[in-house]
Amino acid sequence: MVEFRLPKHSRVIKGKTFKAPEGSANIRKFQVYRYNPDSDQNPRVDIYELNMDACGPMVLDALIKIKNEVDSTLTFRRSCREGVCGSCAMNVDGTNTLSCIKHLDEIKGDVKIYPLPHMPVVKDLVPDLSVAYAQYESIKPWVQNDDPAPEGQERLQSTEERKKLDGLWECVLCFCCTTSCPSYWWNSDRYLGPATLLQSYRFIQDSRDTKTDERLKDLEDPFKLYRCHTIMNCTNTCPKGLNPGQAIGEIKKKIAASKIGK
Ligand code: SF4
Ligand code: SF4
Ligand code: FES
Repeated sequence: MVEFRLPKHSRVIKGKTFKAPEGSANIRKFQVYRYNPDSDQNPRVDIYELNMDACGPMVLDALIKIKNEVDSTLTFRRSCREGVCGSCAMNVDGTNTLSCIKHLDEIKGDVKIYPLPHMPVVKDLVPDLSVAYAQYESIKPWVQNDDPAPEGQERLQSTEERKKLDGLWECVLCFCCTTSCPSYWWNSDRYLGPATLLQSYRFIQDSRDTKTDERLKDLEDPFKLYRCHTIMNCTNTCPKGLNPGQAIGEIKKKIAASKIGK
């Protein structure tokens, strides 16, 4: 079992306000969660006023502007800035999403930016994903096949076999779904959560993988899989439009079907 370190803070206090440059006509306020567990007693919310006439259209553009021009101490993860690396996941306007593909026009009023919920915070908007990554590693997220690949070529798939991976391979492991799941909030140490379970289903469905029975057997556990109560927050929040709730349902069906006739 992996160790889960709970956040030690409980109360968010009011922080500093950074005013927009004088003469800015088009101002928008960003309320941003700030917390350094090594030095802060409590987390705080700082307010940044930005001149939107000189800011890009996405939430990540605003964060980069704050870091570059207003407050270099603000910490967040990002890399690709086009929704493929999964690193800029955070809670924006009450919803877990990728900040690089979240358009500011979709948000009314002040923009509220928090880290992914119910995770320990490394600093500011950076959550500690060690437990989630260890859970991901535990499902052996690679094709397992003891037979050698055909001489001089890859293991081929038919069009139909390849199609079964659609809706699964697109997952960018941002953990927006996992951190939106109430079952995961309460059982993060033992329930694998929707992101890892969707990834598990991706290998169960892969025609090149020959360890389907072992994978299903390993998931048949009251906590690892059956803590999912089909609340579907995961599917509602996925910024890539995937359906982890359905993938979990399909795993349960496969386990049930594997028992029929035994
Ligand atoms: S469907 Fe399952 S995994 Fe998704 S939010 Fe609900 S309980 Fe969590
Ligand atoms: S299923 Fe969606 S929300 Fe969950 S980790 Fe994958 S891309 Fe992110
Ligand atoms: S920066 Fe890569 S998904 Fe947002």
